Amino acid sequence: MPKHKKQRAKQAVLRRQSYVIEVVEGLEDIVQKELGEKIPSAKVVFVSSGELTITYDGPPQELELLRTVLSIYEALDFPVPRPKALLGHEHFTRLIDAIRRSISRWRMRPQNWHLAAAGSQTSVMQRVIEAVSEALQLPHDDNEGDLMLRVRPNKLSDQPIWQVLIRLTPRPLATRPWRVANMPGALNASVAAAMQYLVKARADDRFLNIACGSGTILIERLLTQPAEVALGVDIDRDALDSALSNIVEAGVHIDGLIQADACDLPFPGASFTSVMADLPFGQLVGNHKDNLALYPAVLDEVARITESGANFVIVTHEVKLMEQCLATNQWWRRKQEIKINLTGIHPRIYVLQRA
Ligand SMILES: C[S@@+](CC[C@H](N)C(=O)[O-])C[C@H]1O[C@@H](n2cnc3c(N)ncnc32)[C@H](O)[C@@H]1O
Repeated sequence: MPKHKKQRAKQAVLRRQSYVIEVVEGLEDIVQKELGEKIPSAKVVFVSSGELTITYDGPPQELELLRTVLSIYEALDFPVPRPKALLGHEHFTRLIDAIRRSISRWRMRPQNWHLAAAGSQTSVMQRVIEAVSEALQLPHDDNEGDLMLRVRPNKLSDQPIWQVLIRLTPRPLATRPWRVANMPGALNASVAAAMQYLVKARADDRFLNIACGSGTILIERLLTQPAEVALGVDIDRDALDSALSNIVEAGVHIDGLIQADACDLPFPGASFTSVMADLPFGQLVGNHKDNLALYPAVLDEVARITESGANFVIVTHEVKLMEQCLATNQWWRRKQEIKINLTGIHPRIYVLQRA
């Protein structure tokens, strides 16, 4: 980042309340789009891979409307050279007051807290852990916590500033309250929400989620924008049972969940205007050998059941296979492709349009 821009970003952060938004790497632009639509008074001051820093002076709860993010943290800057100085009376009082203010907005009382920091085992961080636990009368958990704090140097600053991040919510925002039934390989809900920003979701869409699994994409679509018709299809009965439980909890209206093979769908031609899929990656769900037959067949079958101009958004880790299929398939034009990082694996989201 050029020096003058960094300086401006720093001054903006110093003047207003700032927040750090954690996002799936690759989705930074989509999160900015959602932020601009839902919270126009928020100002993005810095974007790095997997993270946005914003300034925003409105009620923090408003930020929880964001569906494409992983977690949001209130950011507090302390002009100290080392984290040990956080234990000084003035800084520590400010920190504890901010934490108390933050958790006072929750509907639940936190049961524990967790500190995420490089060197969290050092004696200094252990003293920070002890002091915060005592001040809040809250046990620290080494793995996770309702209250989550991160301590790190402020990347935006040329001066020695340590930053404490306080997660706004007891769970990451991507952990949806509607998810009462989980299944291995379920898609991160913030990715499913981001997929809705890649096409124009319309109220008159006839929407189909193939290989719907536990219903993540279907639910996130309907929470973003209802559709004239909304259906989910999966070959596996248990997956459909999970989807039904989640859909009931989410309180969205669907027109049906159908057990069927995505290569042979029980719909007449041109039935749908919008289709989305999280196809088996061939790791946790399915295998590469089956995918070699599945992917080209799905592209042909979805072409049959969609009208001209329809969109088909696919998230998959089978990048080479998708490239081969798209090179030979006559029905689908690639409109966009986004590489994301899902905890170490790098799937892509393909946005296709039906010829
Ligand atoms: C990666 S999982 C989808 C997970 C889903 N997005 C979720 O969040 O729960 C892939 C799904 O494809 C389904 N599937 C595999 N082969 C299929 C086929 N030929 N037709 C329909 N569904 C299929 C599996 O049963 C599985 O539920």
